[in-house]
Amino acid sequence: MKYKFLLVLMMGLAVLSFSSCYYDKADIVYPPSTACDTTGATFSAKVLPLLNSKCNLCHGGTAAAGAGIKLDTYAAVKIQAGNGKLVGSIAHTAGFKPMPQGTPQLPACEIAVIKAWVNAGALNN
Ligand code: HEC
Repeated sequence: MKYKFLLVLMMGLAVLSFSSCYYDKADIVYPPSTACDTTGATFSAKVLPLLNSKCNLCHGGTAAAGAGIKLDTYAAVKIQAGNGKLVGSIAHTAGFKPMPQGTPQLPACEIAVIKAWVNAGALNN
């Protein structure tokens, strides 16, 4: 008698946890198609702040860790955009050093933002 009650209780809990799991994760399983917005992907508003937070610990200022590659001014970033290394490195394209070094690849949307800026001519905007 006692065990039957426990069994029913556990089954109830199992059903509850499965259903809540399904609903909680719905937006991860089916991400909205508008998740990544690359409009307004300008150098000053989007690209430089991103590089400052993810790359310039090594590639900024007087940091020696970036092997001499600078990404903290427009002129410096323009060089890496023009030679293909900026996009190649963050997209983990074969033939380029995968960046950011030592940490996981950037989220797809951050890569898309940088690509959009480069494809629009890598302007000083
Ligand atoms: C932990 C330090 C570190 C971080 C963080 C880092 N880099 Fe680098 N990066 C390096 C080093 C070191 C090299 C030189 C690697 C080599 O030659 O083996 C390098 C090389 C590069 C190159 C040249 C790639 C090539 O194929 O020649 C580019 C472009 C670059 N980094 C961009 C970035 C970008 C963009 C980010 C941020 C998303 C980033 N790095 C984050 C240390 C770092």
